[in-house]
Amino acid sequence: MNQAISTAVRVGILGAANIARAFISGVKPSSRVVVSAVASRTADKAERFARETGIARFHSSYEALLADPAIDAVYIPLPNSMHAEWSIRACEAGKHVLCEKPLCATAAEARAMFEAARRNGVHLVEGYPYRAQPQTRKLLEIIESGAIGRLQLIQASFGFTLATGPNIRTDPDLAGGALMDAGAYPVSLARMVAKERPSRVHAVAHWAGGVDHALAATIEFESGLLAQISCSFSTSVHRQALIAGTGGVIQTPFLNHPPLDRPAELLVKRGVAANLDFEKIPSVPMNGFLAEAESFAALVQGASKQWEGPSPEESLDIAATLEAILQSARTSHGLRPGFNGVEATPFM
Ligand SMILES: NC(=O)c1ccc[n+]([C@@H]2O[C@H](COP(=O)([O-])OP(=O)(O)OC[C@H]3O[C@@H](n4cnc5c(N)ncnc54)[C@H](OP(=O)(O)O)[C@@H]3O)[C@@H](O)[C@H]2O)c1
Repeated sequence: MNQAISTAVRVGILGAANIARAFISGVKPSSRVVVSAVASRTADKAERFARETGIARFHSSYEALLADPAIDAVYIPLPNSMHAEWSIRACEAGKHVLCEKPLCATAAEARAMFEAARRNGVHLVEGYPYRAQPQTRKLLEIIESGAIGRLQLIQASFGFTLATGPNIRTDPDLAGGALMDAGAYPVSLARMVAKERPSRVHAVAHWAGGVDHALAATIEFESGLLAQISCSFSTSVHRQALIAGTGGVIQTPFLNHPPLDRPAELLVKRGVAANLDFEKIPSVPMNGFLAEAESFAALVQGASKQWEGPSPEESLDIAATLEAILQSARTSHGLRPGFNGVEATPFM
């Protein structure tokens, strides 16, 4: 591994992305991370973005930022299809990488990315801001304490209404689609909670313009745990997970950025009876990008505090699972229920 960095980690951003604005404002209070430069495909855009967001320096190509010796790490909020190439190029330039979710479009890309990080002695991680929230730590703590018994079922969903107009999310060539955009969250949550690699998936989707606009999938695990995930570009905003064990239930909104003016709350039912109340378990809300970036900086600085996002093994499993879910949704036909004495038939 490269020598640990003892001062604030100097981060460069590849692409003047919308989400990069939220990232910059989120990490501003940090003493561990400083956003030092941004790169865009065009000089004008880079200059305007740097001015508007108060970033000291800008580059008119991604290559130029990777060659900048005053950058320790990069944040990659490019379209999903470009995550693999630019993460690998960043690793080869000796930069640590905080890559936006989903890490990439295929399991093969994920393997190549982690291989590049290993070869070049840098850290590469996939960012899911909810993972660094105290609420997520608390969720894992409760599960690990055995308070809800052995895990049996997970239901997790994330959907919203996508505005009309050009968007990287509706472009099949940029690895768009509801699963890659929103569904990566419930899939990552299922993998985090299960602590094991999914063994089989089944999925159905509604398609438009070459990408899935709504998708529902079942994920099986060797332990017998079953997860159901769903995502959509055409629902009211919702984000919720339910984790049911042999001895209780937890509900969580697993928000990236819970409101800061009140405690974030998990709902926990301990016991199996129907008439038990859910207990509210509060935790301190944080800006998710601040929590994530500080955790990333701690990793890069070699601090004893662990990276709180997905491990390389988890990210590899998430990438393989997303790829398998999409493939299942493209190919599985299911059965048309038989009514009035007619047998169920293959649905083509
Ligand atoms: N963690 C979160 O909460 C969160 C939230 C939203 C999005 N995301 C992730 O962040 C990434 C970016 O999302 P976004 O909504 O910010 O996207 P966006 O606003 O469309 O930004 C993507 C950027 O990529 C660059 N780019 C390079 N080639 C491009 C191409 N062929 N078409 C379009 N843009 C291209 C552009 O920067 P230049 O023109 O400056 O080069 C563009 O500004 C996605 O991977 C998404 O999944 C994460």
